[in-house]
Amino acid sequence: MRAYRANILFTPTPDAFSIVERGYVIVNSEGLVEAVTDCVDRYQTEHNMPQIEVTDYGDRLLIPAFNDLHIHAPQYRNLGLGLDEELLPWLNKYTFPEEAKFADSGYAERIYRRFVHELWMQGTMRSCAFATIHPETTKRLMQLFREAGLGGYVGLVGMDRNSPDNLRNTPKEVETFHLEQLEECLSLHSDRVRTILTPRFIPSCTPEMLRVYGRLAGEHNLPVQSHLSENRSEIEWVKELEPLSTCYADAYRRYGLLGQTPTLMAHCCYSAGEEMQMLKENKVTVVHCPTSNTNLASGIAPVATFLKEGINVGLGTDVSAGHYMSMLRVMQYAIQVSKLHYARSEGQIPFLSLSEAFYLATKAGGSFFGKVGSFEKGYAFDALVIDDSYLNYDHYTLADRIQRFVYVGDDRDIRIRFCQGQALTEPIL
Ligand code: GUN
Ligand code: FE
Repeated sequence: MRAYRANILFTPTPDAFSIVERGYVIVNSEGLVEAVTDCVDRYQTEHNMPQIEVTDYGDRLLIPAFNDLHIHAPQYRNLGLGLDEELLPWLNKYTFPEEAKFADSGYAERIYRRFVHELWMQGTMRSCAFATIHPETTKRLMQLFREAGLGGYVGLVGMDRNSPDNLRNTPKEVETFHLEQLEECLSLHSDRVRTILTPRFIPSCTPEMLRVYGRLAGEHNLPVQSHLSENRSEIEWVKELEPLSTCYADAYRRYGLLGQTPTLMAHCCYSAGEEMQMLKENKVTVVHCPTSNTNLASGIAPVATFLKEGINVGLGTDVSAGHYMSMLRVMQYAIQVSKLHYARSEGQIPFLSLSEAFYLATKAGGSFFGKVGSFEKGYAFDALVIDDSYLNYDHYTLADRIQRFVYVGDDRDIRIRFCQGQALTEPIL
């Protein structure tokens, strides 16, 4: 048993932070949280425990680490590029040519190492990442996650229509890859990094490809990630491609790709009415990507309504449509965009509070990986030690300090990163 002492802040529910000043998180040998307490000696006596080794982080903050539910690893080099375009021209001009380069193992090694390093740097301990159509370099990305000690899902991307010739694969290649991954998973001791079915989006996948994905999900209980109702032109295009579907989400549903297994759908800017009900009934996790939706002028996702409807919502950076890999910036944009939405609706649509945004980035997103994203008993100890002393020159309250960290803090303030109880050292670039 170990205990970590600091100022502890986490969000068991969206409406408020749980705060324990100079408290202790007690962590067992499996890296899971046993308890949060204000007195370790009393806890030890009451629970008849052997010696607990205490590490004291003084006046620093101790918070759950971040979970990024939607990110494209091969787009890392395009951060900050092409953002005068909307989605479809952006994909053709910037994204597809960059992703095609990941056939080259040397190139992939260079970019994926930087990508994994930055996940670590930004305190994102778990993520759901798209790779590319290339099996070998996708496997290398998974290996780099494992070497770094980071958790997540990594998906080989499936695309076999409306794509450049050098960026297409076949349903057979997709199936072979995932079956191989299932075998490999069985032989590994840790399952912190896993495979996920990743049909890019409806315009990129033929009905045959979608059918194979739906079958793989059903037969092997594999989770699914994709894009949904991000941009108006995209939605119109899907109507032409899938005329029998009643809405965009229905196109995934018809192939068994909407909640047959745990499912992530990024964006959902225009998911209203029937589509919203479909997301709810099928227990889909919506990934809100406010930096990306702003950059590509895609739209504003109705997050407040999703939450009111009881739909699970997490946050994603969506690099590189999202321009920054920090979940702090995503939280900040989620709040700010929701405030513009509130003002535009003349106060009819509530805006997100800080604790709500923090909850989305930690516990709500973490739930896709199991018990992750909180310091409640049984949760994986995924945590960040934050040194905000340069911001805390005037003895602010802990509630003020967490807000200041979310808005003006950055990776330089993150001193230690734990993933399931293991302090992760800096990955080699
Ligand atoms: N839709 C299909 N592919 C992509 C992608 O790479 N990024 C975003 N933002 N939307 C997509
Ligand atoms: Fe995306």
